[in-house]
Amino acid sequence: KIPIILDGDPGHDDAIAWMLANASPLLDIRAVTSVCGNQTIEKTTYNALRIMTLIGLRAPMARGRTGPLVSEPIVAPTVHGKSGLDGPDLPEPAFEPLEMSAVELMAKVLSESAEPVTLVPTGPLTNVAALLLAHPELKSKIREISLMGGGIHHGNWTPAAEFNILVDPEAADLVFRSGIPIIMAGLDVTEQALVFPEDFERIRALGNPVATVVAEWLDFFYGFHRAKGYPGAPVHDAVAVAALIAPEILTIEELYVEVETQGDYCRGATVADYYRLHDHKPNARVILGIDRAAFVDLLAEAAKSYGEV
Ligand code: BDR
Ligand code: CA
Repeated sequence: KIPIILDGDPGHDDAIAWMLANASPLLDIRAVTSVCGNQTIEKTTYNALRIMTLIGLRAPMARGRTGPLVSEPIVAPTVHGKSGLDGPDLPEPAFEPLEMSAVELMAKVLSESAEPVTLVPTGPLTNVAALLLAHPELKSKIREISLMGGGIHHGNWTPAAEFNILVDPEAADLVFRSGIPIIMAGLDVTEQALVFPEDFERIRALGNPVATVVAEWLDFFYGFHRAKGYPGAPVHDAVAVAALIAPEILTIEELYVEVETQGDYCRGATVADYYRLHDHKPNARVILGIDRAAFVDLLAEAAKSYGEV
């Protein structure tokens, strides 16, 4: 099993990514940490606990910082609602976060693990960067970072920047320069990771409580995207998990990626040397394509594993 830490700002697609990870026999979820992004840290932490309660994930959980490394938080209520996870009713948390911070919990898991651990950040990279700043000695305990963020051809929160990177570009810059192997699920692939309305019905028909909630999360999440002309819901964050459990459904290219932290128009952009114009060694395995049908099968199978009805 691959030991992992889930770090996210749930968020509908974070929630579905965690449902997928928790269902996989290939992954060992050692901890869950919250980060502020889609909503404030109070809301994303509460949502994380509600999701974990719903899917029966009882890993140690800790709350992240209240804001990005240097800039002010940006939240996304237009996409995820006022709560950060609007839509279906969810169970109240069955447990509380630990007293320690997200960074302390990550450091504890890494230092206690006999083998290197994979980080799966699906929100801004604030916690991961803060971890590297506070514990540079633990870098070798991180096997790789499979992240959702960026886009080598376009942005979604500004023309140039994707939301997770835009919220904390300084953190992302630190992570991309860290030398730790990176798998990047950016918009190039995640906007192909579309779940169509007929797929929602397939998941809803599974009938178990998790599948029902997943279908309702998709209904809500699709609302924003439908208005923008998408034919389905791009379940961005689940691609970062798929990269670990089903790499065969992805097309991946090794590229050198830098994060723009300045600029009038491009702060938060991930700039990839697609044509290898410089002789930098690639620092990221950038996912560029996905077998959409296989991705939907993966999600549906995961939802099914929560119970036959
Ligand atoms: C990313 O932003 C968030 O709204 C989603 O959860 C995803 O992580 C997509 O740009
Ligand atoms: Ca997210």
